[in-house]
Amino acid sequence: MAKNLATDMAPPFILVAHYFIAGAIFYMITAFVLPFYANDISGYFLSSSIASLMHLYLLGFVMMVIFGAMYQLIPVVLEIPIFSKDFAYVQFYLFVSGILIFTFGLWDETYTQIIPYGALLMYLSMLIFVANVFLTYKNIIRWDIVAKFILASNLFLTIGVTIGFIIALSLIYGYSVDILELVQMHIATTIFGYVIMTIMGVGMILLPMFSLSHGFKQKAIEMAFYAIIIGLLLFLIGTIVGNDILKFSGVFFCTIAIFLALYQMYLIFSTRIRKQNDFWAKNMMASFVTLIISFLMLLAGIVTQNETFYILFGFTLFFGFFTFFIVGHIYKILPFLVWYQRYSPLVGKIKVPMLNDMVKEKVADIQFWMTLIGLLLAIFAIGFKITLLFEIGAVIMGVGTLLVIYNIYFTLVYGIEELKN
Ligand code: HEM
Repeated sequence: MAKNLATDMAPPFILVAHYFIAGAIFYMITAFVLPFYANDISGYFLSSSIASLMHLYLLGFVMMVIFGAMYQLIPVVLEIPIFSKDFAYVQFYLFVSGILIFTFGLWDETYTQIIPYGALLMYLSMLIFVANVFLTYKNIIRWDIVAKFILASNLFLTIGVTIGFIIALSLIYGYSVDILELVQMHIATTIFGYVIMTIMGVGMILLPMFSLSHGFKQKAIEMAFYAIIIGLLLFLIGTIVGNDILKFSGVFFCTIAIFLALYQMYLIFSTRIRKQNDFWAKNMMASFVTLIISFLMLLAGIVTQNETFYILFGFTLFFGFFTFFIVGHIYKILPFLVWYQRYSPLVGKIKVPMLNDMVKEKVADIQFWMTLIGLLLAIFAIGFKITLLFEIGAVIMGVGTLLVIYNIYFTLVYGIEELKN
């Protein structure tokens, strides 16, 4: 399973850089508006202002980085070039403008009429992405578990964003649909069907690659693949026919899938050759722990029907698991791409740097601890409804994002001056 990020079929570095840089900027913007949401921590998970923040973060940061990474990884996984690079650029500009218009419309009540336009741009950009992926699959030769995950997750993404687009139109034009039911299906298909399934799939490439693991069994992730699909289908059907038993069975299967995937990650980590706990390994461990915590919160929410647990579930999953997993990988993928583009032609001619030299380790380390401390304070604040503590936690996390931006800048400009001379 161990693969290399490099392939002749990969897209130009500048394309992936577009997505990573925009993702980092959206990450920073979200972190700086987060303290202003302190009063929402005792409110409801589903509201326009929270939806605005969620899309800024989930689409602007999480999906943006995932899209960029997928353009690099799909050729590595499928061993075929991506169908169209031009599609990827068009998608990028539609996506950025769509996110800005959509989130602004949700955030400022006097501009709600722009929501459908933002939604349309985002929807088109997502359709371009999935079309690009499906057209790439036409030429596929090798079917492994990662290829299956990527295909299934893109099918769920198509369903999820179609539902999202319908909700956006209904909010403004008042169609007679049950918005709450649609939002539940939208969250299930985009978060579980796309983001989590994609992470499970590409995790099977990235984790062995960066921890130098091999010789592990992969039965657990194969079972997780079927469990999450069954879980999502049960949840969707249960929501459509209004059957709670089906819905809970769906949540149950999805939870089983998550724990199977975690067990798989444990198997990979336990066979790793690279034992040192560098900033990547720390981020991975924090991501898995926060994933477990978030699911415990979800189960507590289902059992007690207490809204706070649902807020804690979403907050810990989005700002804990997603953040640690993505930031940890930015620190690995970006230096590799810059190195490959800038230094690989010079191997044997000059002394080339190591990948870890291209990240300021001390800064990455401080950022990790700040993000963790800020997150824990904010989680505690949500649990006990302490507004000031939430603001403090969010500001600490915000400073952490500046350190991520600094490190991205450091990597992007690494060696430019030196190589000019
Ligand atoms: C074309 C793309 C999308 C459109 C048009 C869209 C639209 C919407 C709309 C209109 C809502 C309801 C807002 C409200 O309650 O006032 C919503 C909720 C939500 N969406 Fe999306 N969405 C899209 C993509 C996504 C994606 C890709 C994700 C996750 C990665 C996502 C995650 C969420 C979440 C978590 C909520 C619940 C937010 C809350 O109210 O707390 N959406 N979406």
